Amino acid sequence: MKSLREATNISSKRVLVRVDFNVPLKNGKVVSNERLKSTLPTIKFLKKNNCKIILISHLGRPKGERNEKYSLKPVARELSILLGSEVRFFDDCININLDLQPKEVILLENTRFYPEEKQNDKEFSKKLASIADIFVFEGFAVAHRKNASTVGVQEYLESYYGFSVEDEINKINAMVKNPEKPLVLILGGVKLSDKLRVIEHMNDIVDTILIGGAMAFPLLASKGINVQNSFIEKGSVELAKTLDLSKVVLPVDFFVANDKEASEGNAINANLIPEGQMGLDIGPKTIELFSKIITEAKTIIWNGPMGVFENPTFSAGTKIIAKAISNVPKSLLGGGDTIAAIEALYSKGKFTHVSTGGGALLTLLSGKPLPALKSLE
Ligand code: 3PG
Repeated sequence: MKSLREATNISSKRVLVRVDFNVPLKNGKVVSNERLKSTLPTIKFLKKNNCKIILISHLGRPKGERNEKYSLKPVARELSILLGSEVRFFDDCININLDLQPKEVILLENTRFYPEEKQNDKEFSKKLASIADIFVFEGFAVAHRKNASTVGVQEYLESYYGFSVEDEINKINAMVKNPEKPLVLILGGVKLSDKLRVIEHMNDIVDTILIGGAMAFPLLASKGINVQNSFIEKGSVELAKTLDLSKVVLPVDFFVANDKEASEGNAINANLIPEGQMGLDIGPKTIELFSKIITEAKTIIWNGPMGVFENPTFSAGTKIIAKAISNVPKSLLGGGDTIAAIEALYSKGKFTHVSTGGGALLTLLSGKPLPALKSLE
């Protein structure tokens, strides 16, 4: 696998581009188009080189069957607007008869309408590959999935990685492998199990790990603190006991209430959460403690909100932490919830790199290979 920059003799070739257009939709419209925008340089480069551009993607998790709810049709409309030229939509990704003109851009229907996609089925991969001469992988956010359209097709076509994949890998590597220190990792969100490997792998690389969100509760519980009704993912207290927490800083207080829809919350020490109540955001002392560590950092890696930011009563922690991070010289952010949080609460412009990847970024931060980019490594 080579960079698309190194591709030669591509004029008039049919190029199959695996993008990740798994974007949120509402009332048939794309809500956040960042993942689409990230692919524009590659699409424009291929257009300039007179290629016939065939885009493929998944959307959601339709479980191997056709389901209109997960159709990519609205995405084709949004991409047409961004490109300023028509993106033809085909309502299937195989069994299609393509008659394409140079510079034409088309988008095929959701690859996950077929169970063979997730099984990385050989015949399915071969069929996908048969509609093109060249393959370009341009979906960093799906690089951790070993699917037919991400990995299988590479067996049958000359393969390249696109410009946004190259950009993501370079920026992430720069911040993880050669960071300006102190390097602080900030984790949040609901599940400890999603980030356990990240804590283990990054422990040797970072100076400090700040943990907020519900994933902090099993860690506190593993230290004998009664977190009352706060959400604890099943089996996570046992997982927490396996971790080296020497670099981890946990919340010392929370905003608590009876449920996450509450319109009021009380700040209370982590070990004094009243019976029947739950922690829903980090409290003021924790905000101060985390902010001080963030202010002294040179590089921050952040994944996961600090609380239930969707409810304004519990959004302060995430908002103030986001603002503090935006003042740090280098910052790397990723994950659907983190991006949704900064889009809702804070402007995105001030961070060094906002990754399009969630699971893919966590895989990299866990020190594991990305199957779609395996040959690149
Ligand atoms: C993502 O949004 O993280 C990617 O598109 C991967 O989606 P998946 O978790 O459904 O495989």
